[in-house]
Amino acid sequence: MIVAGSVRVPGDKSITHRALLLAALARGTSHVGGALTSLDARSSARVLRQLGAEVSPLRPDTVVTVRGRSRFRRPDSALDCGNSGTTTRLLLGLLAAHRFPATLTGDGSLRRRPMRRVTVPLARMGARFDEPDGDGLPLTVRGGPLVPLRYELPVSSAQIKSALLLAGLAGGVGVELREPHGRSRDHTERMLRAFGFHVIEEHGWIRFTPGGRLEPFALQVPGDPSSAAFLVGAATLAEGGELRVAGVDVNPTRTGFLAVLARMGAAVAVEDVTEHAGEPVGDLLVRPARLRGTEVAAGEVPGLIDEIPLLAALASRAEGVTVFREVGELRVKESDRLNLIAENLRSVGCRAEVSGDDLHVEGGEPPPRGPVRSAGDHRLAMAFGVLGTVPGARIRVDDMACAAVSFPRFPETLRGLERKARP
Ligand code: S3P
Repeated sequence: MIVAGSVRVPGDKSITHRALLLAALARGTSHVGGALTSLDARSSARVLRQLGAEVSPLRPDTVVTVRGRSRFRRPDSALDCGNSGTTTRLLLGLLAAHRFPATLTGDGSLRRRPMRRVTVPLARMGARFDEPDGDGLPLTVRGGPLVPLRYELPVSSAQIKSALLLAGLAGGVGVELREPHGRSRDHTERMLRAFGFHVIEEHGWIRFTPGGRLEPFALQVPGDPSSAAFLVGAATLAEGGELRVAGVDVNPTRTGFLAVLARMGAAVAVEDVTEHAGEPVGDLLVRPARLRGTEVAAGEVPGLIDEIPLLAALASRAEGVTVFREVGELRVKESDRLNLIAENLRSVGCRAEVSGDDLHVEGGEPPPRGPVRSAGDHRLAMAFGVLGTVPGARIRVDDMACAAVSFPRFPETLRGLERKARP
């Protein structure tokens, strides 16, 4: 494939969820431009409507308007969060400060994902939980008045951190948090600061001090670096040309994959960086390159957690071995990503293995060929879709439609990279 031209990626998923949730709690009308319109974003919009917010339909290239109330109203039925862990966990934080009971559920993948990582600290703040099926969904939260929290997270996770900060916001209590190692994405902190709240970082602790009112806002969501990563990967594997991915969020807590790609020998430049609502936004300029293996340290993992499927796919084309240290968190993503990455790489003829919580991938020359089982996991499907662009590759991903969870029209966009290059 020869690449050329400039593309945009859909709006950032993490920022879209946060913008919708916060807009729903601001009394008045907020405007969210560039919002992601994927299945996950629609899950947030849907449950917020059940909680009393008026959210306009999520359509591409259309500003979303959200008429919020300062408190949620009791929902008539269960809140179905679909496939979206971010919707579920962040919403649990907000619901912890509301007096009514609310039941959350989701699809088969989401129901299996651990929720105690947020319900345990939220219970310390005063919320009560009923979890009939153990650590997962469905569960019922009964919120109420909250007490302040000082808490060391067992894993670096932006969803846990954000759930607790949002509980502090909605409950009007202080929250102090510390992550074990490596910083997870900090969009919630940046957004709260941009809206005038007091969030500081001191000696490794993140401190939220209550005070102030959430006012309606207007915000432009930048392109999602996690979606951009797949196009960067495809352009890196290409045989020639140059690709610009324009308007991407380049927040340092999201761009760990760029540092790893640079070590692997990739040619990616970040250009034209400006700032929007507290987030740096720039263009990624990518040229094809020959890759070599590297070691990804445990401390780097929170900053590239969603990019590991793609990096592992690229590592299978690099010279030498790539090791991802301490990536056990991948077992509790939309699928058991850790084992499925290794299994699927082997299935297309590459060498990969899981050893404890580490993932080893050995690079090779033969074109990858074979079936891929995505287990409905969007990022697995897209990572192997990218690997399928290698000359001579014959990869059959069982379910490419699941890419729509985070990247609507991904297959068309990937094919478009090549078409653009043709006169
Ligand atoms: C997200 C945090 C990460 C990430 C997910 C989105 C967020 O999850 O994997 O796709 O928006 O806060 P964890 O907090 O579980 O690491």
